[in-house]
Amino acid sequence: MQHIFQHMLKLSGLLFGCLFSAATFSQTTKPISIIPQPVSLVKSVGQFTLPATVIINAGTSSEMIPVTDYLKNKIAVSTGKPVSIKSNASFSTIKLVLNKAENPSLGKEGYQLSVTTKGVVVKANQVAGLFYGVQTLMQLLPKEIESKTAVKNVKWSVPCVQVTDYPRFGWRGLMFDVSRHFFTVPEVKQYIDAMVRYKYNLLHLHLADDEGWRIEIKSLPRLTEVGAYNAKRVGYFGTFAAPAADEPRNYGGFYTQEDIKELVKYAKERFVNILPEIDVPGHSLAAIASYPELSCTPGADQYKVRSGEVIMDWSHGQPPIALIDNTLCPANEKVYEFMDKIITELAQLFPFEYIHLGGDECPKNFWAKSDAVKALMQKENLKDMEEVQSYFEKRVEKIVESKGKKFMGWDEILQGGLAPNAAVMSWRGMKGGIQAAKMGHEVVMSPTDFAYIDYMQGDPSIESKVYATLRLDKTYTFEPVPDSVDAKLIKGGQANLWTEQVYNMRRAEYMTWPRGFAIAESLWSPKATKNWTNFAERVENQFPRLEEAEINYAPSMYDPIVNVSRRDSTMTIALSTEIKPLDIYYSFDNSFPDRFYPKYTQPLVVPKEAAQIKMITYRGKQPIGRMMSIPIADLTARLPQKK
Ligand code: ACM
Repeated sequence: MQHIFQHMLKLSGLLFGCLFSAATFSQTTKPISIIPQPVSLVKSVGQFTLPATVIINAGTSSEMIPVTDYLKNKIAVSTGKPVSIKSNASFSTIKLVLNKAENPSLGKEGYQLSVTTKGVVVKANQVAGLFYGVQTLMQLLPKEIESKTAVKNVKWSVPCVQVTDYPRFGWRGLMFDVSRHFFTVPEVKQYIDAMVRYKYNLLHLHLADDEGWRIEIKSLPRLTEVGAYNAKRVGYFGTFAAPAADEPRNYGGFYTQEDIKELVKYAKERFVNILPEIDVPGHSLAAIASYPELSCTPGADQYKVRSGEVIMDWSHGQPPIALIDNTLCPANEKVYEFMDKIITELAQLFPFEYIHLGGDECPKNFWAKSDAVKALMQKENLKDMEEVQSYFEKRVEKIVESKGKKFMGWDEILQGGLAPNAAVMSWRGMKGGIQAAKMGHEVVMSPTDFAYIDYMQGDPSIESKVYATLRLDKTYTFEPVPDSVDAKLIKGGQANLWTEQVYNMRRAEYMTWPRGFAIAESLWSPKATKNWTNFAERVENQFPRLEEAEINYAPSMYDPIVNVSRRDSTMTIALSTEIKPLDIYYSFDNSFPDRFYPKYTQPLVVPKEAAQIKMITYRGKQPIGRMMSIPIADLTARLPQKK
């Protein structure tokens, strides 16, 4: 009781201090804004300000080193303050307590964070929880904590709070396609650094596809000697002409096994598992170009790693019709020896319990022509091509299990019969995941409709063109557990960044953030607390933090949403915005509108002879969106076709 009384006295003293400092340092009055939203956060009066020397007290366990090193580095770099780590200090600025028994409801990754006027205490059952408590603490500090160099004249204050927090799902992933374009070890580390801020714990690396094989397999050296390189192109991937026969193939790269070990270690120190994916039996042109004997198709020895030229006919839907055979031959025993060698090395390199073997979009038209496949069908009593793929997947699952790992694939592995223990990653909507869960299989949800962050996040006139759009507000409605299934089988979800149109790291970041915030919150925070308006405000508060951290992001949520429709025989243009309230100003006369131009209030009819509409959003007197210009002819082309 006396203790509480003393505390109240201090609080009242601090209240005065708080009012005083609020006038001087605006950041202390900013609303608390954390992504993903914690389970419970109670704010109290006052704040704690980092002292001239920061002491981290973390006990004696060596398990704590990744968290203490991370925290020390973050604070020392941006504040310029000396930071010392003590195992048993009588006084500490930040105390990290690993208390395995105290609160089992926090699980493996939950934490309690207490900020009082005396200091900061983070408690968790396991070290990962302490790491997430530290991430929340970072978001409570001023944005300059994200700076890569020391920042002066900042009051390093944290509001007094009590936070209890734990994740909804154990699988909180981002997939990074390093095949379509290669990203270096430092770039992958940079991606990991960004994702852990938002409590992601899984990085799925798409390591092999038609455009490149990205991991050294010592027993199969040609995979990287030949398979890791194509001819460089920029522009609209998928439309390029095939490179000339003598054109140098020097674009790409791969991770050596030492690189992979370094990445796995780096990720582990940040509580991230790496899920390796080798995409087979389709998407395998880089492997076939390296070892043509793995193909069922004569002439495969002429095949080259794809440089973005057309190799599939998608006009008939799924599966595509291959124009050249990018599949491994399921009727060739050498293919299973090949898979065994790869999976042996993967299993040694990646400690994570799953190995992902793709299985998506496998064309069957060359298999249908193959005598070897026909003979296999007869021998194994396989009635169609889906059963042929299923035969392949079941054999690959056995290889994976023989190395002590679990087998995972995209939802196409359901077709023709799911392998007995396979985990399914559902991408063509949720239905594959639902079907697999109903059969008792583990599922990770990553449906295109909500989680494909290679899609455009705004109007095609301002984004790099891809075949579909996924805006932030839609991403935020991602709900991984469908009503009809046993929630225990849904391990979680992930967003997928395919990189056909992503040529560099700045673009990878642009595509990932802020949609990665929306997926992070869908995977961490309680379903009942999700709220778009509140989330959108918190997204805005994150942007200056990303700027400090030099991480790129898309401001697309500030731009107008353009919808065209036909009224009688004229086209009307309806404009709206994802976040409100914003004003939209427009012109049809080719000049750049500002807030003294007409303000949008109702659907627009295009004036006769107008060539383009230009528009920009404002918040009050401040321009906030990007200037958008769309030729009227492009808008006309967007109209639904007359029947
Ligand atoms: C996929 O997007 N083809 C899994």
